[in-house]
Amino acid sequence: MKNIILTGFMGTGKSYVGRRLATMIGYKFKDIDEIIEKTENMKINEIFELFGEEHFRKIETVVLEMELKDEGIVVSTGGGVVLSEKNRKLIRKAGIVVNLTATPEQILERLAEDHERPLLKKEKNIQKIRKMMLERNSYYEESDIQIDTTGKNVDDVISEIMRRIEYEV
Ligand code: S3P
Repeated sequence: MKNIILTGFMGTGKSYVGRRLATMIGYKFKDIDEIIEKTENMKINEIFELFGEEHFRKIETVVLEMELKDEGIVVSTGGGVVLSEKNRKLIRKAGIVVNLTATPEQILERLAEDHERPLLKKEKNIQKIRKMMLERNSYYEESDIQIDTTGKNVDDVISEIMRRIEYEV
């Protein structure tokens, strides 16, 4: 039973897809952001506001390392998890890495009403999303499978993941 780790930019649907996928294949589901909020007893927004991004990244690595020790899991990670080399190594070692992508336009549309993303709080537009994606894309590409979610619903994305991991899990 190989673990499945979902990576991808904010708004690519990692948490939603991950939860449903885990149920379908009988794996446990872990959402790293959700676990961080539970252990810190604070929303991600508050952690960024009170302590800054650097502090958040430290907690993210600690939680990631601990949670990836488990087996039979589908893990949804935060969009910025790939920025750290240590995180990237942990993820690669932990199982099959499935990277979800979407166009900047689609991300903007999906996150239009969202207020939970501290990094898109001050500035939420195509240019900002494009810039962040460019900084991260080469890391996102370090995956076993990449799936474009643009214009697809959750069921489409899950069927595509299932089809492509069939022989790997
Ligand atoms: C972040 C993405 C967020 C969350 C934090 C930072 C990022 O997770 O970890 O706000 O740097 O892209 P989602 O990808 O689930 O939105």
